[in-house]
Amino acid sequence: MNYYQQHQSRFLEGLTAFLRIPSISTLSEHKPDIRRAAEFVRQELLAAGLTTAELIEGQGNPLVYAEWLGAPGKPTILFYGHYDVQPPDPVDEWMSPPFEPQIRGNDIFARGSSDDKGQTYIQIKAVEGLLKTTGKLPVNVRFLIEGEEECGGEHIEAYVKSKPPRLKADAAVVCDTEMFAPDLPTICVGLRGIVYGELFVEGASHDLHSGMYGGAAPNPIQAIAEILCALKDRDGHIHIPGFYDRVAAPSPKEREAWARLPFREKEFTEQEMGADALVGEPGVPVLERLWARPTLEVHGIRGGFTAEGAKTVIPARAVAKISTRLVADQRIDEATGQLLAAIEGACPKGVKAEFKVLHAGAPSLTNPDNRFIRDAAEAMKQLFAKEAVYIRSGGSIPIVGVFDQALGIPSVLMGFGLPDDNLHAPNEKFHLPNFFRGIEAVARYLEILGG
Ligand code: BES
Ligand code: MN
Ligand code: MN
Repeated sequence: MNYYQQHQSRFLEGLTAFLRIPSISTLSEHKPDIRRAAEFVRQELLAAGLTTAELIEGQGNPLVYAEWLGAPGKPTILFYGHYDVQPPDPVDEWMSPPFEPQIRGNDIFARGSSDDKGQTYIQIKAVEGLLKTTGKLPVNVRFLIEGEEECGGEHIEAYVKSKPPRLKADAAVVCDTEMFAPDLPTICVGLRGIVYGELFVEGASHDLHSGMYGGAAPNPIQAIAEILCALKDRDGHIHIPGFYDRVAAPSPKEREAWARLPFREKEFTEQEMGADALVGEPGVPVLERLWARPTLEVHGIRGGFTAEGAKTVIPARAVAKISTRLVADQRIDEATGQLLAAIEGACPKGVKAEFKVLHAGAPSLTNPDNRFIRDAAEAMKQLFAKEAVYIRSGGSIPIVGVFDQALGIPSVLMGFGLPDDNLHAPNEKFHLPNFFRGIEAVARYLEILGG
């Protein structure tokens, strides 16, 4: 039995303790939990044997930085992860409480189990195993773990853009994505970007009786619906002038590779999503719609009367939370400008619409033709006994674009989540065999990198 097998139950206890901390970054009442989670990560890194581990304070939640630089002449890896999680709601749809981890079958259920505490913990335990068994690492490593990935906070971005000497590295390694299918080792080479904001719409100066004024008064909720329908049609095509101008089509080689992936549309629709039908641009393959095309989604609409029973009112104001996902080579500022102009153009008379950006992140696309990605594919292959596939993902990890642009380093996205992990949803889980194999795969990766 190797170190990793011997220590499985301790690793699981550690992960459980991490998952018990409700470090929800988007809700300010959880600030103390955020700090506890940061401190937990710092302690784990110290216990793993890293030479320094400290909190970096800034305008947002603390970053955790740690390093071990005892392999002169060898490459330096920058591990990235996030200790913050999404809110657990709707809480009553969880089979076990979101912050009381429960193992059912081969899965551990808790908010953050897959996204991203379980995967961040994989990186820490991989390094721990190598340090405890050999007293050293085959390469130099740094850790930069953040606490506001899920709320689009800018602490890490500002920090990385300041290019501190201590972030000097040859590649970033991110474990915060999914495997395409169970047992299919996967490297993700592209992420969508995002612009997320709130659309404030105001009509009359006060709420109005819908019988006395209906037919004459502007209705902000109706206006939101009209704006949304003007911006995206029933075929999922976005009608924002100029929006597709920079959208790069995937290469023929990438398209072929995607067509060979084990993807069953019916299963994806009915089992994984629990829906009746797919929507989106006709004629564009599903994976391409998810990975290589921009989207526009509404996440919530607030306004009017939503309590029990009926109330005949025309609300004076309403708000919609909206985001658009961007793909290479769209640019945040340009896309935001286009979106603002399109909202203005689509705003019906009688109401005023104002869009305020909450956060934004650039899309990223990495050329897989470099040794850091090849070695990762080799490590995954050794642990999962299958050739790794290269995919993109529709999700966003804003810092990946910044690593590329500010530090000039590629990111290796070797994720161990599964498509049905319920990220951001009730009953999030992490597949324990992936947790344990993930730890060994990352350790193997460092060994291969060190030659
Ligand atoms: N880990 C996810 C992103 C992800 C999920 C990548 C699945 C690949 C596969 C990350 O924590 C996330 O949820 N990011 C947010 C972006 C953020 C700016 C709010 C997202 O994609 O909505
Ligand atoms: Mn994540
Ligand atoms: Mn997430």
